[in-house]
Amino acid sequence: MPAPRTVYLDHSASTPCDPRVVEAMTPYFSEVYGNSSSSHGFGRKAEMAIEKAREHIAAVLRCHPNEIIFTSGGSESDNLAIRGAGWLMRAHGKGNHLITTPVEHSAVSVTVKQMSGLQGFQSTFLPVGKDASIDPEDLANHLTDQTSVVSVIYANNEVGTLAPLAQLAAQAHARGAVFHTDAVQAAGQLPLDVTQLGVDLMSLSAHKFYGPKGVGALYVRDGIDLTPAQSGGSHERGRRAGTHNTPFIVGMAKALQIAEEERDARTAHYRALRDQLIDGILTHVPDAYLTGHPTDRLPSHASFVFAHVDSSKLLMHLDMRGIAGSGGSACKTGNPEPSGVLLAMGYPPELAIGSLRLTVGLHTTPEEIAYTVEAVRHSVEKLRALAKLFSV
Ligand SMILES: Cc1ncc(COP(=O)(O)O)c(C=O)c1O
Repeated sequence: MPAPRTVYLDHSASTPCDPRVVEAMTPYFSEVYGNSSSSHGFGRKAEMAIEKAREHIAAVLRCHPNEIIFTSGGSESDNLAIRGAGWLMRAHGKGNHLITTPVEHSAVSVTVKQMSGLQGFQSTFLPVGKDASIDPEDLANHLTDQTSVVSVIYANNEVGTLAPLAQLAAQAHARGAVFHTDAVQAAGQLPLDVTQLGVDLMSLSAHKFYGPKGVGALYVRDGIDLTPAQSGGSHERGRRAGTHNTPFIVGMAKALQIAEEERDARTAHYRALRDQLIDGILTHVPDAYLTGHPTDRLPSHASFVFAHVDSSKLLMHLDMRGIAGSGGSACKTGNPEPSGVLLAMGYPPELAIGSLRLTVGLHTTPEEIAYTVEAVRHSVEKLRALAKLFSV
């Protein structure tokens, strides 16, 4: 069946690169191509562009430019934050206990599991509410004098729920632990002022806010040391080895600057469409449930579970209608297992297997949302009828 139209509702997986960002990046592919570590004029030009980009990002985060480390994306930033701080603090006798949540992106959860499985760290995964909320009191109860790093996601990628970072960070600090947040989904939509958020380490990824893929940043509060997770040259003040990706770093800074300037208008647009989508689906699709917090959620993010529906089949039906969504996080797409995040939130496996994430973007229209609501209603109805037919 040919798709009657295409509707992209997977902006939490990735966004298109803004043409203004592409324009800013273009000279750095073949005009300003020196290695930023070289001491000649070619290198200095690249270095100047990178330092300008660092200043622009620091202005959005309201931090010092030296507190920004450039990385290859959100996954690397998460890895560097947790490994880098965890290793160094253990070496300095601070202890080896890591605390995180069961609703993190795998870049955090797998890193913590690997550090406890292979390197002798202790780990605690905090309990979460049915809406993926995290209670600062629960964190307080699990912190010990051995806790070195606490990592909690700012805006949940699968169900959109926001975390009370300042309160959580205050609890971590009271016991001498450093506080990391994965702000990959939040960046471009929520405030990133690191002092107000109270965070010590914060991960960003450019392709979630209309920048290029394969570039990210880690904010590291002045005074916090990291053991490099990627060793080699002395780039990034010895904290992350590897030749700078000048065009992508320039592109990320431009994308973040634009996102910050346009943040109010963008989030108003997202909220209106997200609410239209949530109302439409909950009204027109029987046995559909919103996952995550009903209001305290990412402006662009709508997520659901449908009883008696297999998420992978629903995604296929929607794809045939030209609609791009996801079953949870992009990394889980194509995996027929129920979402571990939804299981941790207390959903039974038969509901957790029927998850759908739809995330709106700058170019999404109300007509596209109306079309999507009708397509979801029709697809769910069809899948339930087929499931009934084959179960008798
Ligand atoms: C919350 C979160 N953290 C980390 C990542 C990984 O970022 P990247 O794709 O830049 O490695 C993602 C990507 O989906 C994400 O949603």
